[in-house]
Amino acid sequence: MTSELTQVQVSLGDRSYPIFIGAGTFQQVDIASHISGTKVLIVTNETVAPLYLEMLKHQLSEKQVDTVVLADGEQYKNLDTLNLIFDQLIGSHHDRKTTLIALGGGVVGDMTGFAAASYQRGVPFIQIPTTLLAQVDSSVGGKTAVNHAMGKNMIGAFYQPQAVIIDTNTLATLPDREFHAGLAEVIKYGLIVDADFFQWLESNIDNLLQRNEQALAYAIELSCKSKARVVAEDETEQGIRAILNLGHTFGHAIETFQGYKQWIHGEAVAAGMVMAAALSVTVGDLAVEDLHRIKHLLHRCSLPIAPPLDMAVDDFMTLMVRDKKVLDGQLRLVLLKRLGEACVTDQFSIDHLNRVLIDACSPL
Ligand code: NAD
Ligand code: GLY
Repeated sequence: MTSELTQVQVSLGDRSYPIFIGAGTFQQVDIASHISGTKVLIVTNETVAPLYLEMLKHQLSEKQVDTVVLADGEQYKNLDTLNLIFDQLIGSHHDRKTTLIALGGGVVGDMTGFAAASYQRGVPFIQIPTTLLAQVDSSVGGKTAVNHAMGKNMIGAFYQPQAVIIDTNTLATLPDREFHAGLAEVIKYGLIVDADFFQWLESNIDNLLQRNEQALAYAIELSCKSKARVVAEDETEQGIRAILNLGHTFGHAIETFQGYKQWIHGEAVAAGMVMAAALSVTVGDLAVEDLHRIKHLLHRCSLPIAPPLDMAVDDFMTLMVRDKKVLDGQLRLVLLKRLGEACVTDQFSIDHLNRVLIDACSPL
């Protein structure tokens, strides 16, 4: 199936780039025209390779293409796996004109981006995201990283791709659980910058859950536009960009607690967004009815709305102080002023935070 292509621009001066969105973009976008040199290294994983690698290689028949196929899973998003990409690059004599292509979800995208940022001090790269989460979030904006055993995304760089190519046809093979996790990040944009979009999501959630092509294309486009706007304003997260991390301080604590092996990123973010919204109610900003709307929408997407049962308040406290938003020892969180408006703040008391954590960690 093919559809009309939509293009969203990420405006960052000489680092600006297009995001192509549509069904059949693999066939419609001349991927090779975004590659200046003759050599390419495609980075993918053992799940995505059998599905889409040959189709991509076919588009690049004029180039010299090497491939590295990584193990699949967040637990492999680390320096050891990154080294496999460097082994291939150095072993196959890739030089500074080589382009890296990330074909896969956010794990492949984050690692490929960091490899591109650091190989010979920087080579171009292209994002071809194949999960909903990667299409609406991780492939856009230039955050690249690997995890450390003590903290999520602790080692990385800001490094923008040359282009992002989103083929919504790839979502046809995505398991439900991964699809739902992507919806968490879609809902995030409604919460932080676009109350109308949140309302649209409430009205169209059945269509989205059925993977209706038009509804999906609209949700992906609006998400990419919101992200592109925030990133253009604050590329390296000196301020406003941090709102894109709504729920992530709680969510990253969950992922780290579980050793990156149980809940997937979008699930942890969903529970984290509920905790951030609950704190926003506790400090007197968000209306409690809106907290209920948020929980209802996430629950409709089969996403968790409370942390894992085996996590205690102390686990959160220990892990949250390692968050990248901690400045001079002060924990800052993304909270909601109201639906569609977020802020980054340290204006909450430890009592408020404790109350929310105790409520969240108490089994019903
Ligand atoms: P993922 O990359 O692990 O992909 C999820 C699963 O889906 C994997 O098993 C993968 O192999 C499989 N898969 C991918 N595409 C498929 C397809 N089309 N059909 C069938 N299976 C497919 O997870 P994710 O949710 O895409 O990304 C999560 C990662 O992204 C986390 O590491 C998170 O930290 C990172 N992230 C980064 C940013 C950023 O700004 N850089 C933003 C959000 C999340
Ligand atoms: N996903 C958060 C960001 O890109 O800033």
